[in-house]
Amino acid sequence: MSPSVPETLADHARRVRATTLRELFARDPDRASALALHWGDWRVDFAKERLAPASLEALLRHAEAAGVAHWTRALFTGERINLSEQRPVLHTALRQPDDASVSVDGADVLPEIRATQRRMQALSAAIRSGVRKGATGAPIGAVVNIGIGGSDLGPRLVCDALADAARPGPQVAFVSNVDPEHMSRALAPFRPESTLFIVTSKTFTTQETLANAKAARSWLAAGLGPSVDVGPHFVGVTANVPAARAFGIAPHDVLPMWDWVGGRYSLWSAVGLPIAIARSYDTFASLLAGAAAMDAHFRTAPARENLPLVLGLVGWWNARWLGYPQRVVVPYAHALGRLPAFLQQLSLESNGKSVSRDGAPLDGPGAPSLWGEVGTDGQHAFFQWLHQGTHPVPVEFVVPLRARHPLANQQTLLVANALAQAQALLAGRPAEALRAELAGTGLAGAVLEAAVAARVCPGNRPSTTILLPTLDAWNLGALLALYEHRTFVEGLLLTVNSFDQWGVELGKTLATPLIAALGDGAALPAETDASTAALVAHARQVMASGD
Ligand code: F6P
Repeated sequence: MSPSVPETLADHARRVRATTLRELFARDPDRASALALHWGDWRVDFAKERLAPASLEALLRHAEAAGVAHWTRALFTGERINLSEQRPVLHTALRQPDDASVSVDGADVLPEIRATQRRMQALSAAIRSGVRKGATGAPIGAVVNIGIGGSDLGPRLVCDALADAARPGPQVAFVSNVDPEHMSRALAPFRPESTLFIVTSKTFTTQETLANAKAARSWLAAGLGPSVDVGPHFVGVTANVPAARAFGIAPHDVLPMWDWVGGRYSLWSAVGLPIAIARSYDTFASLLAGAAAMDAHFRTAPARENLPLVLGLVGWWNARWLGYPQRVVVPYAHALGRLPAFLQQLSLESNGKSVSRDGAPLDGPGAPSLWGEVGTDGQHAFFQWLHQGTHPVPVEFVVPLRARHPLANQQTLLVANALAQAQALLAGRPAEALRAELAGTGLAGAVLEAAVAARVCPGNRPSTTILLPTLDAWNLGALLALYEHRTFVEGLLLTVNSFDQWGVELGKTLATPLIAALGDGAALPAETDASTAALVAHARQVMASGD
C-alpha cells in the first residue's frame, strides 16, 4: 500500500464527514445515476452511501494499487492464495460453464467436477423419482442434511429461498446444531424406512456433525431393527472419504469435496445436493449458471462498473474510513430469511481477522460485524434503532422486484416499504418541519420541544439498495456469487487472508476437556479459569439432578 493513498482517502473521508447526504444530493443533480450500477435487469444504488463520486474514484485507484485485479486473476486460475494453508481457492471452478482446464498441482480439476455433477444428477433423480429405496425397499421420501457452518448454511438458504409448494418432491430438512432438540424436531414428521441422511462435512471430523450422524444411525436402528443394514439410508459429502467409509457409508454413496473449496464457499459443490433433491438438478444447474455469469462480470467488467468490486470498496470505505463497526443486511424477500446467517459466516469467518496476510497487525479497523432480518419484519423490531439509535450503521437492502407467488398488491407493499426505509435513513425527519406540524396541534413550550426531540430522525444514515428482477435460481446464484466476490474484495482491501479460520479452532480445542468434565466428572485442566470451573460445577450438578 503506497503511503500517499491512505492520506488521499483520509482527506476524502474528512470531506464526506463534514457534509450530509442531503447536501451531497442537493449539490449534484446527477448523483442518483452517477452512483448506481446496472447489470442486466439489476440496479444497485449506492447514491445513499456517504461518499462523493470523487471518493469512489479514489477508492478505485486504491483497488488498483492494492492489486485487486492481480488477486482476482490468481483466484480464478487456482494460485495458492490461501497462504496460511497453502491452498488454491477454486469455488469458481465448480460453476465454470465451459471445460477449460483449471489446474491444481498440474492436474485439471474440471473432469472430477463434471464426474461429481453427473453423480449428483443421477442420485437426485433417483431420490426424486422414488427409485432410491431404503433398507426395507420403501422409496425415500424425506432427506435430512446433517452438517454445520458451510456444510449447512448455503444449501439451507437456497432450499429455503427456492422452496415451491406447488412442485412437490422429497421433503428436505437440515440439522446442524448439536442441541438434541434440533435432531428430534427434524425427525418428528419422518419415518425411518423412507428417510435418507446426507452427512455433509468437508473434514468429517466436526463434532456436531458426527454426533448427529450417530444419532441418525441410532434412530434408524431403533426404527428398522438392529439387524437391518442402514447403509442405504446414508450419503456422504466430504473431502475425507476414508472417514465417511469408516462411518459405514458405501463408496458409491460418498461424493467428493476438495481441499480447494472452503466450507463457506462450498454450496456449488456436492454440498448443494439437497438443492438438487428438493428442486431438481436443473434448478441447481441454473443456480450455477447465475453464479458463473456473476463470475464473468467480476472478471471482465471495467472497475467502475464492477458490482462486487464497487460494493467491496464501499463496504471497506464504511468500516475503515467512516468507522462504522457494523453492517446490517435486510432482504425484502421472505424466502431470503437465511441470507443474514449465510452472510455472517461468509463475511465474518472470511474477514474477521486482526492481522494481515503477512502477520502484521491491521493498520485500522477490520471487517464490520454483520446481522440482519427480513423486511418488513425487521421494521417492527430493530429499525427504530437504525433510525434513532446512537450507533448509526450502514444498511443493505436486497429487494427482488417480482413476486414468485403474487397475492393482491402485497409485492407492491413490500417493495415500497424497502424503498421508503432507505429514503427515511437518508432524509431523516428534521426538527423544523416537526415543530411547525406539532405547534399546529396546540403544543407549546417545553412540551412541544420534548415532543419534537422524541420524533426527530437525524437521517444521513447510509444504505445501498440492490434491486434484482426476481428470486429464481439464476438470480439467486448471481446474488450469492456477488456477495462471495464482494467479501473477497473486502478481504484484499483489509489485507487479510479471507480463506482460513484459525479463530474457530480455539473453542473446539477447549470444549474437549469440558465435555469430559461435564459428562464423566473428569478433572479440569489445571489452567482452567475459576469462572469456567464454577460454571462447570454448577452445570454438572443441575444437569445430573434432572427436571
Ligand atoms: O466453523 C468452522 C468450520 O470449519 C467452517 O469453516 C466449516 O464450514 C464448518 O466448520 C464445518 O466444517 P466441516 O464441513 O468440515 O464439517
